[in-house]
Amino acid sequence: MTDAHIIEKAAHIIIEGGLVAMPTETVYGLAANALDAEAVSRIFTAKGRPDDNPLIVHVDGLMMARQTGVMNERAQALAERFWPGPLTLVVKSLGMLPLIVTAGLDTVGIRMPDCDTALSLISAAGVPLAAPSANKSGSPSPTTAAHVAKDFGDELFVIDGGACSVGLESTVIDLTADVPVILRPGVVTQQMIEECIGSVENASAEFLSNAAPAAPGMKYRHYAPLAMVTVVEGHAVSVAEAIKYLYDKDLKKGEKPLVMALRENKRYYGRRDIVITGSSGDPGEAAKKLYALLRAADEQQYSRIYFEAVPKEGIGYAVMNRVYKAASYNIVKV
Ligand code: TXA
Ligand code: MG
Repeated sequence: MTDAHIIEKAAHIIIEGGLVAMPTETVYGLAANALDAEAVSRIFTAKGRPDDNPLIVHVDGLMMARQTGVMNERAQALAERFWPGPLTLVVKSLGMLPLIVTAGLDTVGIRMPDCDTALSLISAAGVPLAAPSANKSGSPSPTTAAHVAKDFGDELFVIDGGACSVGLESTVIDLTADVPVILRPGVVTQQMIEECIGSVENASAEFLSNAAPAAPGMKYRHYAPLAMVTVVEGHAVSVAEAIKYLYDKDLKKGEKPLVMALRENKRYYGRRDIVITGSSGDPGEAAKKLYALLRAADEQQYSRIYFEAVPKEGIGYAVMNRVYKAASYNIVKV
């Protein structure tokens, strides 16, 4: 739990129209008073974020949520089941927010983070907080205070809440259509949601198919490290064989390759540079470590990353959604 005077100082900065980086259970957020258009515009400038991408509004409970958006029956049910937690509900806006927050849309994404520090800050400021992930647009989301400081320097006030427990951004679900649609997968899975409100669609389902992305290239490089990332999927032994082949070829060309492997496959790689993402039985570990590993690889100036796919089940689905993007859908199937 963060010191009361740090929360007070941060709340003061927010009320004065400034920005604060706050921890949440998912990733660190770059927060401003959601009711203050000028403050929110500072977020877009600081991040270099395109202004057609709406921000999530963070609340300290259902009451604040109801003052921000129309919490319909499904929204209410999901909030009761998963809040505080990593689930963002897109609902009709009540029109109280400056248009810059919702990028001019008549809907708003709302979430109550499962993090005492963030909740205390929202309550102390007494206003909902608009907060995207606290990274410069295009780099991996920050899961420690040091990641935030690396992107924004000393001038930004960062509340250090340690490493985020989840490590991937929240699940985003649009509840405004007849059939709700998952816009971004996260650790709250489609199955968990369907157990609560019945069947929903998944806008990112296509990423599981063999189909090439609709629009390849930069558009998808949301979570991009500097290194070129290649995902290798298939049977563990074949995956290791393929990665070793590509890795050794890279070395001869003067590249600096790195393997991101599952713990149980480490033994296949001998003395090659390797970091462990997790184990196939525990994709939650990979979720928690992914962004930190990508950032560390950049710092150590690796030019190539070979990522052993984790099973796309449960949290593994969200992990691979982010990894595919970091890899610009550069996938080798063996
Ligand atoms: O876990 C998280 O969600 C983190 C922490 C800080 O809460 N925040 C986060 O924010 O990941 P950001 O801005 O990086 O991602 C917000 C996502 C974007 O994909 C945005 O397009 C979508 O939510 N979004 C927000 N409001 C929306 C709306 N009204 N309609 C559709 N999508 C919306
Ligand atoms: Mg982001």
